[in-house]
Parts: sequence; structure tokens; C-alpha cells
Amino acid sequence: MAKRKKKLDEREEANQILGHDPFEDVDLAWMDREEGELSIKALGHDPLQDMDVGWIDQEQEERAPDMAQEESQVVLEDTETEPLPMRAAAPLLEQAPAVVERPIPPQPLEVLQPEPLTVVTPGPTDGPEATFHFPADFKWGVATAAHQVEGRNIHNDWWNWEQTDGHIKQGHKSELACDWWVNAEVDFDRAAAMGLNSLRISVEWSRVEPRPGEFDESALERYSQMLQGLRERHIEPMVTLHHFTNPSWLAEQGGWENPETIALFARFVRRTVEVLGQHCDLWCTINEPNVYGYLGYLEGTFPPGRSDFGAARRVIRHLLSGHAAAYREIHALQPGARVGFAHNMNPFDPANPRSPLDRRVTRIADQAFNQSILTALARGRWTLPLGFRLAWKLRRTLDWIGLNYYTRDLVAFDHTQRRTLFGRRLHADDAELLDGGYGEFYPQGLFRCLRRLARLDVPIYVTENGIPDHDDDQRPRHLLAHLHQMWHAIQLCYPVMGYYHWTLVDNFEWAEGWTLRFGLIALDPQTQARTPRRSADLYAEIVQANAITPHAIDTYARELRSELLPG
Ligand code: FCB
Repeated sequence: MAKRKKKLDEREEANQILGHDPFEDVDLAWMDREEGELSIKALGHDPLQDMDVGWIDQEQEERAPDMAQEESQVVLEDTETEPLPMRAAAPLLEQAPAVVERPIPPQPLEVLQPEPLTVVTPGPTDGPEATFHFPADFKWGVATAAHQVEGRNIHNDWWNWEQTDGHIKQGHKSELACDWWVNAEVDFDRAAAMGLNSLRISVEWSRVEPRPGEFDESALERYSQMLQGLRERHIEPMVTLHHFTNPSWLAEQGGWENPETIALFARFVRRTVEVLGQHCDLWCTINEPNVYGYLGYLEGTFPPGRSDFGAARRVIRHLLSGHAAAYREIHALQPGARVGFAHNMNPFDPANPRSPLDRRVTRIADQAFNQSILTALARGRWTLPLGFRLAWKLRRTLDWIGLNYYTRDLVAFDHTQRRTLFGRRLHADDAELLDGGYGEFYPQGLFRCLRRLARLDVPIYVTENGIPDHDDDQRPRHLLAHLHQMWHAIQLCYPVMGYYHWTLVDNFEWAEGWTLRFGLIALDPQTQARTPRRSADLYAEIVQANAITPHAIDTYARELRSELLPG
């Protein structure tokens, strides 16, 4: 009751500010074309109010009282919460006033075309010294995806998409990418030299099953070889089974919009795990259903280039059902497997926190992009905008959750932005921006997302985090600041088990082509020459010390000293 009163007040306030009710003429019935069960129209004439998460929960609790009671403790919103109860001894911030620990310098990386690196010698420090340690068994890795690194993935929908002018910036193509299909091992050597103990790759469905039901054993053999190669280098593989690309034959029959794809994906997963299961038990079923749905079916910058809200919802639901089906297939074959999926989370904040409209569209953006997927997996129910029904099959299908974190957005109400549920995304005037308008430099967002995921009470891996930074002028500071946020989360006993930096070597960045460079190591795609950036040395130093040391801060981002080591 009090909540409803607050909303009415907010709406009146909005009326006063704008001089009219902005939602009066807004008809959101288009949002609900397929969802026969409950029409948006039946919800009254204030559709944005009805998008509120609280309303959805209330509605669904009435429909499924038992389940609601059982799970009423699950709180997943991005609000201030108490730290979790202690589960394990947290690694301590070790004060080292007298002797400054110097990590063993990283092994030099093999450089094909080295450029002279700027050597920064830290001067004497007069501030306090402290080392931020990570847990002994922490996984330090890098993440990649098949299409972005393998080269010549000619049987998938992305290859086809790249052939049309206007789809990829500057007409770029993936071509040979990083040539991993032929020689991933040169980069595995680099990863090993840096001291990494895990690496996230993906299996390309179109290589394994180039025609429906026909499995290419030689492709599976190549993946086996790669996984063995990682094991030989003491690098644990994490294998993603779907990272944005689909076999062309699958795309032609409707891709993930077609519900039959769920069973077809399960069949591909079964065959792949039968063969690769001897080298891997850490599986990531699907990468970023929300990004896939948003870019492919709303913004239209990924294949199939659609702009259809209903289709986007269906596709995300099918991807999540595909995740659940894959989870069961993998566990049937490998009872001890650890299976999760990678969720892209983007914190949203109101552009003007005093504006009720901005606050409302911010909540909607959060619900649509971040929360609806978590609710589906944690509570087994679809919530808006994904749907209304129960989603029982999704329950208990997470052994861990992966977080892909890059940036946050401010959201302002804009009645013209119907496609993005009336929210216009923008950045604060004083925000430090990343290359190519990729977003805001905002390390605290990593902590905020980890805090929220910790409520799921399953292990968390940061399955992606990185920055497009061609000249590496922000990446060292970015890396240190983000890892420090993660360290902070671990101190609060949030169960963060590993971190996978995106990425080792510059790779084909989807619709951005080669214009955005995320690599710790620079790549010239024409010559395949690799040149480590300073950040590669920094990451190696952190990984080998299993800690952020004052030496690393002073050498690579001295300007962070006052923030990370306040006196
Ligand atoms: C993520 C994708 C990954 C890469 C990074 C930069 O959303 O999962 O493939 O493109 O962004």
C-alpha cells in the first residue's frame, strides 16, 4: 500500500515537473504480442508502474504461493546489503611497514616484432605500503571466444554477416583473426609465461556440426588437442559452448527464435562433452543472453539484425532454456562437472537522481537487462520483459555464475526511446570515457555487481573484464583499480573464485571489427605479429605475486597510490 502511494506521489510529481502525464498516451501493448497468458492491457493504464519488479513478484506470489514462500529470502537487487556471513577465512590485507616485498619479475614474453617499451622505474615512495593478497587457489586467466580468435569460421552466421557492407565498422572482417585454429599454442605459451593458471575459450558449434546432425570428428580432435595443450602448460580450461555464433544452417531455420534450437543445442553439447569431457570439467554454457538478444534483435547490430521486442524476449528465453538443457546434458555425462553461464551486468544509475522519471526508467533498464535473467535462474520464473510464466526447468541449473563486467550507464527518461523502454543511456559529464565511446571507466561497478551476485550463494567467476585501449594509456590503471575492487569483494567473503581478463591478444571485436583493441598483447592481424603491451607485464606481475603489490602500483599506475594506499 505504502509502495503504491509512493508511486502515485512520484507520478504526481512528474506531472508537476512536465506539466502533463508523460505516460498517458503510452501504449505498451506492443510489448506483449505473443504472451497470451496475461495481456499488458489488463494491467491498467500506467504500464511503467506495472514494470516494477515488486509488482511482478507480488503477482507471481499470488500464482505460486508455495514457491514464493520458499524463495522469499532471495534478494537480488543492486541495493546496499550487509556483507555475507563469513564462510571462510578471508585473506588479509597484510601491512608491511618495514620491508617492501618485491615479486619475482615476470618471465619475458616472446615478442615477434618488439617495440621498445617505456620502462618506468618507480622512485622512492614515502607513502604506506600494503599488499593485497588473493586466495591461494585463485584462478587467474584470460577469456576469448572462438570466432574472435580462430579465423576462417566460414560456416557460421557471423562470417556471412561480415560479408555485407555496413555491418562491421570500416568494413573489417574476421579473416584469419588470431589464427588460433592453426596455432593457438603460440599464445598458450605466452599465457603460460605470464603465469596464468586458467584460460576461457569457446567451442565453435559450426565447426563441430557443420551440417545438421553431422559431427566433424577432426574439429573435435583439434579442440581436444587445444585443451590438452592447456593442461600440459598447467592451465585449466574453461570452455564456453555458445558465444554469439551459430552454424549457418541453424540461423537459416530461425536460430534461437526457433524453440527447436534448444534441443539441437543440447545435442551439440552432448557430443562435444562426450569428447572433450576428458580434458575439461569447467563449462560455461552460454555467453551473455542479454547482449545477444539486445544487439541481435533490438539494436540490430549483430546478426540477424532485427529490431523486434517480442523476438528479443523469445530469443533470451530460449537461450536460458538452452542453458538449462545443457546443464542437464553435461551433468548426465559428468556428474562432477561445474557448469555455469556468463551474465553481462551493467549497473544503471539515474542521470538525475532527483528525477522520479529517471529513477523509474533506471529501474526498468536494470530489470530488463540485469535482473530478469537472474530471477529466471534463481527463482525459476520469468519476469518482465521476458514473460510471466513459471520457468521451473531453469531452477537449480547453476553451479556457478559468471560475471562479464565492462561499464555502467546513467539513464534518463526519454519518451522517444520506446525501443529501450523509454530510457536514454548517457555518461556523466565528468566521466572518464573508454576508447570508441565504449563506456565509462567505473571500477566500483565491478564491486557492485559482485555484491549483487553474491546473494545467489554460488561461486562466482569474473568471466570477462577488460577495456578497449589501443595505446594502453588507461589499461594498467583500469586493471589495478578493478582487481582492487574484486579484492575488496573477496574480503567480504563474496565467493569470487577467479578472474578472466578480456583478453590476451587483440581480436575481432564483432561489429566493431578491429577498431577496438582489448588485448594485453597487441596484434597486427595482417602480419600476425604480436607485441605485448605494458599491461601484459603488469598482469603477469599480479598473477605471479597472487597479489597487488605496492611495486605494481608504483610501477604501472602511480596515480592510484593515494586511492589504494591512503596514508
Ligand atoms: C563481451 C563479449 C566478448 C567481447 C567483449 C569485449 O560482451 O562477450 O565477446 O566482445 O564484450
